[in-house]
This record gives sequence, structure tokens and C-alpha cells, in this order.
Amino acid sequence: MMIQTARGVRDILPEEAEVWHFLEETAITLFGLYGYQEVRTPLFEKSGLFSRAVGETTDIVEKEMYTFTDRGGESLSLRPEGTASVVRAFLEAGLTRQLPWRVCYRGPMFRYERPQKGRYRQFHQLGCELLGPAGPLADAEQMAMILDYLRRVGLGEGLTLEINSLGCGACRPGYREGLVGYLRSVPGDAGSPLCENCRRRLRENPLRVLDCKLPECRAVAARAPVMRDHLCPPCADHFRGLVAELEGLALPYVLNPLMVRGLDYYTRTAFEVTTTRLGAQNAVAAGGRYDSLVAQLGGPEVPAIGFAMGLERLALLLAESPRAAAAPAAYVVAVGEAAELLGARVAASLRGAGLRVVADLMGGSMKSQMKRADRSGAPVTLILGEEEAAKGQVMVKNMAARTQRILAWEEVLPYLDTPSVRGG
Ligand code: HAM
Repeated sequence: MMIQTARGVRDILPEEAEVWHFLEETAITLFGLYGYQEVRTPLFEKSGLFSRAVGETTDIVEKEMYTFTDRGGESLSLRPEGTASVVRAFLEAGLTRQLPWRVCYRGPMFRYERPQKGRYRQFHQLGCELLGPAGPLADAEQMAMILDYLRRVGLGEGLTLEINSLGCGACRPGYREGLVGYLRSVPGDAGSPLCENCRRRLRENPLRVLDCKLPECRAVAARAPVMRDHLCPPCADHFRGLVAELEGLALPYVLNPLMVRGLDYYTRTAFEVTTTRLGAQNAVAAGGRYDSLVAQLGGPEVPAIGFAMGLERLALLLAESPRAAAAPAAYVVAVGEAAELLGARVAASLRGAGLRVVADLMGGSMKSQMKRADRSGAPVTLILGEEEAAKGQVMVKNMAARTQRILAWEEVLPYLDTPSVRGG
């Protein structure tokens, strides 16, 4: 019996890894233009960090964390998200006077969820956190940056920016009480019309009832009082400011009063960028403000906002809009020892000039090597036999035009660099 991957995790095979490199490098470069620098935090943390930051009664902490006791008796958890670790690192490094602090990160996160298209147990996020600025300008800058990024990687179509305000410690408790009153008062055939999960949420985390996906709960949520009508004056000002900024930047948005997010640290702005092309798992990016988290983790009051994008979801969307596969610039086919040696030399000189060159190295007949050259997608194959090797020459085959010519090996680089060859 062959051993297979555990449920909900996947291999990223080389072809897909190319797409991931593209997504990650474009992100890190673009975020850099906005002043974000990369931070790398551990894959596991003390479990208490997540229960304090993400919230004791959230699905993530209650049901989805990979928690284990290490040999020293310490309870540790694989990180289910990146924000808690970033804030911990910020405090641990004593950076509270170096505001604004802008960091980005990429890497695997772990949640024990029911796997489906776009939802995995090990998944990867690209995220940014901005600590310091309190005003809506920061919120709008991040949203603009995300949309800028999605456009640059070719995913600008069919997206919706959804925004909401979740209020703050001053106004949310009052709203929450009103919401619970409403949810308890809705009659059903046999008691509450809510699903079993939401009846439990009603006691522990009632706002989460608003984004339950089951039809019976959605019907109830649709008529529920909304947070935006219950914001305290500073939260209402912040939200108005954000809307004005988005309009000033000509960024289309949709108000979604039912978006509450699955992490407890959010205050005021919450947002998601959704697509209609991924089925149920429709959020490609999501985030919000978390103005109390730094203090909650033992630091001073530092307002902050951040987001994360799911790399698997971005890669799925890109796979639907095919890009040219990253083929090598040239493929080297060589038969005989002297030819292989010259082939290695030519390949090395081309790589020195920054070209991607793949040597066959499988041996065998010219015919079988040529088949693989064809499959590689390289526009040019460099063919070396005994005769070419003896003369220091290379037969250069243009795979699309099916033409070939003999060049001295030093002439191969200038030839590959001509526009008609580079263009395929
Ligand atoms: P989140 O909404 O839990 O937020 O996750 C952000 C994004 O990660 C989602 O929109 C989705 O694209 C991706 N994602 C989440 N879970 C999975 C999964 N099981 N499989 C595949 N992709 C997934 C956070 O994690 C916050 N830390 C975001 C944030 C940063 N807020 C402030 N700063």
C-alpha cells in the first residue's frame, strides 16, 4: 500500500510552484512599494497566544487548531493565522516606538476544517499588517493595495470589495444585546428557527449567527438589526471617513452588514474581497482593523489593520485563466561524451547570461531526447552530436518554425537574444 497525503493537505508540484513563485514575488515586490517588509514568524506558538488573540469561542480556537503537548509538557499549536504571531513578534522585539510598522508575510497556516475546493487543512497566506495609523486612510490604502495586486497578477476581473464596521468595545456590547434579543424573539416551528450551531453561537458569539450559510439562519439574519445603525460617534465617523476615501480613490465597494469575520480581534472596519468564481469559498482576501489587540496581548494601545489572501485560491483562479507555462529558453540534447561536455559548457554560458536552459541528461537516442525537447515547450533546442562536438558547433533548432542552422557555440547566446527568437 502506498502512503498518501493526510486529508486536506496537498503537494504543490513544480508547474504549480511556478505560479506560486509568481504570486508571491509579485506580492512581496508590490507590498514593498507601499513600505511593507517581510517578517517570518514560527509555524507554532504557545496555544495561549491564539486563544487570547483570535478568541476562546471562535470556531478556529474551539474546533480547528492543531494543538499538541510537546515533550516538555508545553501546549503548542500550529498557527491557524498570522496576525497573532506578528503582534507577538512586534511586542517581543520592543518595537512599540517604531510606528508606523508595516510588515508582510507568506507561509502555511493550519486549520482542521472540512476540506473542499479552496479550503484545506494546510493552506498558505500572503498577508500584511500595518501597526500605528488609526484613521480610515490606512484602511483605504490597504484595500487599494490589494486590488492593485490582484490586477497586476491578472485577477482584477469579477471581484467585489465588501466592507462593514464591527464597532468597538464601547458600542458593540449594546448592539450585541439588541441582536440577541432579536434572535431569541424570532419564532420557529419547534422553538428557535436557528440551526444547532447557531443556537450555541447565540450564547457564546452571537454576531457569528449573521454569517451562517444555512438558509434557515440566513432568513433570520436578513431581518436582524445591523451594527452600522448602532455605532458610537467615533466609529461612525471612522466608517464615514472610509467610505469617503474609497469614493475619492474611485474604488467600488459593497456594504455587507452581515460580514462579521471569524476572528474576535476585529474592531471597526472589516472587509473581504470576494469572487463569484470559486463556489462557496469565495473570499480571496480578508482582513480588518484590530485596534485593541496589541493592548490585549500586553502592549500599549496601538491601532492596527491587516489582511491576508489565500494563495491556493489565487492559484485556482489563475489556473482558470491560463498563462503561458514557464518553458525554458532552450533545451539541450546531446549524444556522445564529447557532445555532452560541450552541451554542458554551452548551457552554463547561457545560464550565466540569465537564460533558463534545461539539459536532457537522460541519455538514449537522439529521437527520444528530441521528444522530450518538444514536450518541454522550449522554443529552441540545441542539438549536439559527435560531429558538432568535434567542431565546437551546435545545431540550433527553432521548434515552432521547424528550421535549423549550425552555429559556432559562442554564437548561440547572441542568436537566442535576437527578438524573433526570444518571442518564440
Ligand atoms: P481569514 O479570513 O481567516 O483571516 O483568512 C484570510 C484568507 O485566507 C481567506 O480569505 C482565504 O482566502 C484564506 N483561507 C482561510 N482559511 C483557509 C483554508 N482553510 N483553506 C484555504 N484558504 C484559506 C485571517 O486569517 C486574518 N489573520 C487576516 C488578517 C490579517 N486580519 C488582520 N490581519
